[in-house]
Amino acid sequence: MDDKGEPDRVDVARSAPPPPSVINRRAFVLTGFWGSIAAVTAAIVGGWGIDFLWPKKLAGFRAPIGVKASKIPAPGTDPVHVCEGRFWLVNVAPGEGESPGGLLAFYQKCPHLGCSVPWRPDFDFGGKKGWFRCPCHGSTFTREGGILVAGPSSRNMDTMAITVKPNGDITVQTGQVKQGGADNPSRALPYPGPRG
Ligand code: FES
Repeated sequence: MDDKGEPDRVDVARSAPPPPSVINRRAFVLTGFWGSIAAVTAAIVGGWGIDFLWPKKLAGFRAPIGVKASKIPAPGTDPVHVCEGRFWLVNVAPGEGESPGGLLAFYQKCPHLGCSVPWRPDFDFGGKKGWFRCPCHGSTFTREGGILVAGPSSRNMDTMAITVKPNGDITVQTGQVKQGGADNPSRALPYPGPRG
């Protein structure tokens, strides 16, 4: 106290408690900060955990693609394109080319530089109509074996593995692409199917 009876400034500063509003604001900010960190961490860890426990199901290209028996071409007829799996499905008649006959799934990607290869039923080459022919540089392949007959491709068309179900439906393993080779015709999978 000074001689006027007023409290000393130092005493006032020491004895006065911090304003409650400052403490509350600070606590609020800290709680919000750490709460946010905890929420983000939980979301990340939780998300990874769920992903780990719940593997993603593959779909589309690179996944197994089912083809109904009713969609499979008859032996010796034009190939069927399966967009979802990026392949051409061919049913080779026994004795065609050098093939024992059966199903082949050709990857649509050209072995040269990767263009999509279409089926050209009216394209005439060497007096015969019906070829896989790449629009980019003209690589041309046979229907019954994906065998290169013209153009700059370094190999025959690539193939995909096929499995046949008892009911005649098939599954094409689009994640299992095998480089085209001289053995392409012998890769044909016998297909009695529902036609017997
Ligand atoms: S990409 Fe097919 S021939 Fe070049």
